[in-house]
Amino acid sequence: MPRKVTINYKKAKKVFKVDKMSDWEKVAEFLISKLKPGMVVALRGDLGAGKTTLTQYIAKQLGVSKRALSPTFALVKSYIVHCISYDGVKRMVHVDAYRIEDDRELLALDLDEELLMPGSVMILEWPERIEKWIAKQTELVQVDIRIT
Ligand SMILES: Nc1ncnc2c1ncn2[C@@H]1O[C@H](COP(=O)(O)OP(=O)(O)OP(=O)(O)O)[C@@H](O)[C@H]1O
Ligand SMILES: [Mg+2]
Repeated sequence: MPRKVTINYKKAKKVFKVDKMSDWEKVAEFLISKLKPGMVVALRGDLGAGKTTLTQYIAKQLGVSKRALSPTFALVKSYIVHCISYDGVKRMVHVDAYRIEDDRELLALDLDEELLMPGSVMILEWPERIEKWIAKQTELVQVDIRIT
C-alpha cells in the first residue's frame, strides 16, 4: 500500500509519495541532505507505517554496515556512519520510544547525552511517547508517514 510522507523542517514542508519500497530512497536522500550533528528526525506514523523501513534506508545511505542493522529489542541503538560526505555526521542513534512509559524510563535512556556525543544525529520512532523531550529540541525534523 502506498504511503504519503510529509516532512516539516524550519517552516518548510515537503511531501513524498511512496508507492513502492525503492521510493523510500528519495525520502532518505532528502532527509540526509538536511542532517547535521545534534539533529533529531522524529518519525510519526501508525504501527507498520514504515518508520523502521525509512530508518534502514537512511542507515544504508549513511554507510552503516548491514550486520549492525540486525534487529534487537534495545530501545536505543547507535551506529558508526561510514560515509564521510555528510557534514560532520559520524554517528546515527536510532531510538524506538514505543515502550517508554514514564519519565524515569526516559531519563534512563540518556538521550541528551547520546545526542551530545560528537557528530551524532538521532532518528526517533514514536516521538509522541516523549513529547516533553521533543519540545526541547532545537534542530528538529518532523516526518509524518501515512498509509493511503
Ligand atoms: N511503500 C510500501 N509498500 C508496501 N509495503 C511497504 C511500503 N513501505 C513499507 N512497507 C512494508 O510495511 C512494513 C512497515 O514496517 P515498519 O517496521 O517499517 O513499520 P514501523 O512504522 O516501524 O512500525 P512500528 O510502529 O511497529 O515500529 C514493512 O513490512 C515494509 O516492508
Ligand atoms: Mg518500527
